Formats: sequence, C-alpha cells, structure tokens
Amino acid sequence: MSSEKRAPQHVAIIMDGNGRWATSRGWPRLVGHRKGAERVKEIVRCAPDLGVKWLTIYAFSTENWKRSTEEVLGLMGLFSRYIEREADRLSAEGVRMRFIGDRSRLDDRLQRLMAGIETRTANNTRLNLTVAINYGGRDEIIRAGRKIACEVAEGRLDPADVTEATVSAMLDTADIPDPDLVIRTSGETRVSNFLLWQAAYAEYEFTETLWPDFSPAELERILSRFGGRDRRFGGVAPA
Ligand code: IPE
Ligand code: IPE
Ligand code: MG
Repeated sequence: MSSEKRAPQHVAIIMDGNGRWATSRGWPRLVGHRKGAERVKEIVRCAPDLGVKWLTIYAFSTENWKRSTEEVLGLMGLFSRYIEREADRLSAEGVRMRFIGDRSRLDDRLQRLMAGIETRTANNTRLNLTVAINYGGRDEIIRAGRKIACEVAEGRLDPADVTEATVSAMLDTADIPDPDLVIRTSGETRVSNFLLWQAAYAEYEFTETLWPDFSPAELERILSRFGGRDRRFGGVAPA
C-alpha cells in the first residue's frame, strides 16, 4: 500500500518539561516530576478510548544519569511508587505493562517490581503500555549488535542472513510494533535518543505544552490531525 490514512495504533511520547513547569513556579524539579506522573495516569486511562492500542512513554534516558543524585533518586522512587500504586488499577483496566531499556543499572527492588507487573499483566490486551527506563536508542542498538555478534561467533547465524527482521528481533521492542506517531511536549524539537530504529517512518508532532499541563483533550486533537496525514512510506501518493 503506498498511502494510508488511519488512527495511530501506536503512539510514543517524549514526556518533557516537568522541570521547567516546576521551576517557573519556584518549586523543586521533583514537584514537576510528581505532577508529570499524574498526567501519565490520566493519559493511560484515556488512550484506549481514543483508539490507541500501544502507548510507549519515555520516562528516563541513558543520558538522564547526568542529573543530580537527588533528582535521579527522586525519579527512581516515583517509578517504584507508580508501579506499586497503579498495579491493581492497571490489571483491572486490561493494561499490559512492559519496560524497555537496560535494567541492569536499576536497583534490585525496582527491577523486581518491573518484572512483577510485567508478569501480572501479561495476559491483558486492552492497552499495551511500554515505559522506557534507562533507555537510549543507541544503547539498545549496541546491545542488539552484541547479541548478533555472539550468534555469529558461535556459528548460529550467517552474517549474510542478517536482515531488518534480525535486528528488530534483537531490540528491546522485539514484541512491539513500530510507533506510528511520536509526540514530544515542551517545545523541544529533537529526538533525544528515543526509538531511533523503530521510528524510521513515524510521524512527529511537537507541542509547546509542558508535560504536566498535557491533557487528554490535547492528545485527542493531535490524534485527529494525524488522521489527516498522508503516510507514503517512501512511495508516491495515489493520483
Ligand atoms: C522530562 O522532564 C522528564 C525526564 C526527562 C525525566 P524534564 O525533567 O526534562 O524537564 P525539563 O526539560 O528540564 O523542563
Ligand atoms: C528526553 O528528555 C528524555 C525523557 C523524556 C525521559 P530530556 O529532557 O532528557 O532531553 P534533552 O536533554 O532535552 O535532549
Ligand atoms: Mg527535558
């Protein structure tokens, strides 16, 4: 198919602007992150009603370790609390929760919570929620490259058989379709190492709204604009 108009099945969001939201009010950055976590709950709740089947959110990048210890620990605490407090509701509402990124650097307790909610919600199908924690597109591609190199070194894979499908299957997103639409809040118009491989043909939407002010109504407006876009995937639009 050379042209396709439809509601996005998979929406990925770079949730940015929590810090500015807080500092502009004279508050610590962590207050902005707490407010941001409230927005996540709201967006997760409304996404299935807007036709979204897959929602991937960028919560912590491989570069975010450069922030102060206080901010990093505060964010890690928020991730744990989100999982603990939302587990029952996510399960009841049919949300399947998964994580992408390198977990090995996260503390053991958080890793256990992540694995626990993934198992607990594994049979849910209403919404696929994926949270990117200690995620970087380059890091993910490097880790995939190492896995492929091991397969080749051990004689299980012929280099000539390495295809797009081989690489996709080695990424953290092996079981997740590519995003149709990537939204970034806060007015920044960069990718910041998010889904570099997967978003090859995604549409992008940038909004000035800071993440703590992002609303279901704004998501709905962005989704309806997406419906009008002509996605050609390298082909030509039909006459
Ligand atoms: C996004 O908000 C959340 C994370 C990156 C964890 P920021 O914390 O980047 O907020 P700004 O960009 O400094 O306003
Ligand atoms: C991107 O936001 C990462 C997340 C939203 C988790 P950043 O605020 O870290 O990105 P830069 O520094 O503006 O590129
Ligand atoms: Mg930022």
